[in-house]
Amino acid sequence: MLLSDSAFLRACRGERVPHVPVWFMRQAGRSLPEYRALREGVPMLESCTRAELVVEITMQPVRRYGVDAAILFSDIVVPLKAIGVDLDIVPGTGPVVAAPIRDLAAVGQLRELTPEDVPYVTEAIRGAVGELGATPLIGFAGAPFTLASYLIEGGPSKDHRLTKAMMYGEPDLWHALLGRLAKIAAVFLRVQAEAGASAVQLFDSWAGTLGRSDYEKYVRPHSQAVLEAVADLGVPRIHFGVGTGELLASMGAAGAEVVGVDWRVPLDEASKRIGPGRAVQGNLDPTLAFAPTAVMTARAGEVIDAGRHAPGHVFNLGHGVLPGTDPDQLARLVDFVHGYQPR
Ligand code: CP3
Repeated sequence: MLLSDSAFLRACRGERVPHVPVWFMRQAGRSLPEYRALREGVPMLESCTRAELVVEITMQPVRRYGVDAAILFSDIVVPLKAIGVDLDIVPGTGPVVAAPIRDLAAVGQLRELTPEDVPYVTEAIRGAVGELGATPLIGFAGAPFTLASYLIEGGPSKDHRLTKAMMYGEPDLWHALLGRLAKIAAVFLRVQAEAGASAVQLFDSWAGTLGRSDYEKYVRPHSQAVLEAVADLGVPRIHFGVGTGELLASMGAAGAEVVGVDWRVPLDEASKRIGPGRAVQGNLDPTLAFAPTAVMTARAGEVIDAGRHAPGHVFNLGHGVLPGTDPDQLARLVDFVHGYQPR
């Protein structure tokens, strides 16, 4: 079996597949006991800089579940840390930034990323690709809006109030910040694809907090710039956000081959909104892993049936695997997806 013929890459390209390919956002992580064992005593961001550890954690869900793709074990804030932003990932909280960005001087401090800033990423990808054989590896980056939210708020936020206040109130500062973040994200994706990643995913997790016209005015141009900057690499680009039902058409127009969809919009409807020629990824509600297996798999069948209406479908959850998810449930879900004969 050739890597380029894998079910995952075929689905991204909208080609016929032997089975619906499946992987899970956050498939490596706290729900796996073998992950918790390896991470014991190693802070999250430090673990991302140890290439052998990254390879091992990246491989864990592939071995356990037989998913159709691996995703590099890293984080969206890794490139920011690499250019000197003082930040940490606090367990149970998420990224916390010591000096939040509020003015042009702070934006000026965000220098460009170079491959030499993240040698451990190149090394880890080469190592993982060597072990994965015909299973594709997905590289990823945070989209400018989602990165900006952490940098401006100083940490996770429910309403993104400071972020949106800057966006509405200081548009020049806003565009300067997002322009810089777009360049950083583009380099981070390029490094990963050049080291051997077979696809890249741009996570704009929090873009769903915006209405369509604001998204198009303040955010999409920057995400589109990231996607365009890696278009020449010839790897499928996946573009994902949560709560983006109203933004799917706009996100489709940003240029990715595959648009990720959360659980709120069925994939047939999502595909209509996204428009022709683009595959979809998603979108089982991650909480269904906590329901009885038969309930979960029945809903997974509905997801696959709806996904048949799109030019291509990569099965995933509508967002990341929740901490506390039973890995055996996910193993049963993968088996179900692989064995499912769509109507
Ligand atoms: O398996 C994978 O999906 C690959 C690894 C991955 C991580 N973060 C590892 C991680 C990926 C793709 C990400 C992306 C990421 N990081 C996003 C976009 C995806 C999404 O979920 O919307 C965002 C918004 C972040 C920022 C971030 N980092 C959050 C919100 C958290 C969780 C905080 C918490 O503890 O609840 C992190 C930390 C993080 N990143 C963990 C992992 C496995 C947990 C750290 C731990 O194990 O202690």
